Amino acid sequence: MDLLIKNIRQLIQIMEPGNLCVAGNKMSHLNLIENAWLAIKDGLIADYGPMDSCRVKSESEIDASGKIVMPAFCDSHTHLVYAGSREQEFVDRIRGLSYEEIAQRGGGINNSAIRLRQASEDELYQEALVRINEIVSQGTGAVEIKSGYGLDTESELKMLRVIRRLKETTPLTIRSTFLGAHAVPPEFANNQDGYVNLILHDMIPKVAAENLADFVDVFCDRGFFTVDHTARILETAARYGLRPKIHANELDFSGGIQAGIKFNALSVDHLEYTGEEEIRALLGSRTMPTLLPGAALFLGLIWPPARNMIDAGLPVALASDFNPGSSPTGNMMLILALGCICLKMLPEEVIHASTINSACAMGLENQLGSITTGKKANLIITRPIPGYGYLPYAFGSNLVDAVILNGQIIENK
Ligand code: NIG
Ligand code: FE
Repeated sequence: MDLLIKNIRQLIQIMEPGNLCVAGNKMSHLNLIENAWLAIKDGLIADYGPMDSCRVKSESEIDASGKIVMPAFCDSHTHLVYAGSREQEFVDRIRGLSYEEIAQRGGGINNSAIRLRQASEDELYQEALVRINEIVSQGTGAVEIKSGYGLDTESELKMLRVIRRLKETTPLTIRSTFLGAHAVPPEFANNQDGYVNLILHDMIPKVAAENLADFVDVFCDRGFFTVDHTARILETAARYGLRPKIHANELDFSGGIQAGIKFNALSVDHLEYTGEEEIRALLGSRTMPTLLPGAALFLGLIWPPARNMIDAGLPVALASDFNPGSSPTGNMMLILALGCICLKMLPEEVIHASTINSACAMGLENQLGSITTGKKANLIITRPIPGYGYLPYAFGSNLVDAVILNGQIIENK
């Protein structure tokens, strides 16, 4: 064996091969082994079990006495390639302006677009690398990253090329999403149709020709893109093989959830405005409801009704939404705490939501998101803690001791 982890206080989130996402009341049950071992070979989880069954030997061993071992987090929704920051808008909101009011004054996403257009590919890559190193040290092993701060063809392609370079040069598993329909840029201020046509006839074909995106996204919400525009973009993207992940129902009952489901979205994300009708539609679908409590907290929005969703039998995923405007953090341990404190999810539920279910929201459930023989050895070893319930409880503490990605221990950068 390449690496053996011994004396693990709790090895959590164990799943049999072939298990998919976890829904409804199954989310409140977590499989674990107390006093466990886990062995890694060729970057994969080779075997595991209780210590009294450990016959494995390795030149390289870690003693995890008192510690928890779990799958590294899968963060299925981020915008972590961006230029600069937006703390002035943060202050504007403290003084009483809303997210939409700031956007209408030319701030918000368009503020980031101005900076991104000026930045070179290399500068964007270096800035993003700092964020990547930070989230890895906080326990993230897989991440989805969106474009959407370019808002013209060349700048959108530039963002996606940065994401491709991050895929090629970092140990994270990365999925990229084309989000041209994030906001209407100033040059199309009174011509949203014109901008949508640019997305349909110029951006999508070029993104596809360079094979730069795994998925497509639209901000389908009040004041951003309508259900009609969303449908046109998703129809075209489908012809190029891009499956949707939709920003939906953050600001209103926008119809975004239903639009996503209609186009077989992998996930619909945000979902502050989710009623019985939306829950019924989700129950009849294979679309993962994904909640982003960092953004709801930061913008002072209402909380998405996680309890109603899970109690109705739905799966739920959690992600950070790491971006400069609505959630300037990619710290998934904090997102777990918010899931418990603000969304009233149980510790077992937030662990499913941030591992296997968020892996599903990136189409990675066969490779990641659980302790399963043959899956990638992407693992967190915690500091010594009493049990997994301590993870969301001790919010704000750094509980990650070591991170292993593809079987390799990652040195803190
Ligand atoms: O997911 N809601 C839309 N987009 C981002 C925010 C982007 C920004 O403000 O820069 C989000 O919250
Ligand atoms: Fe987002």
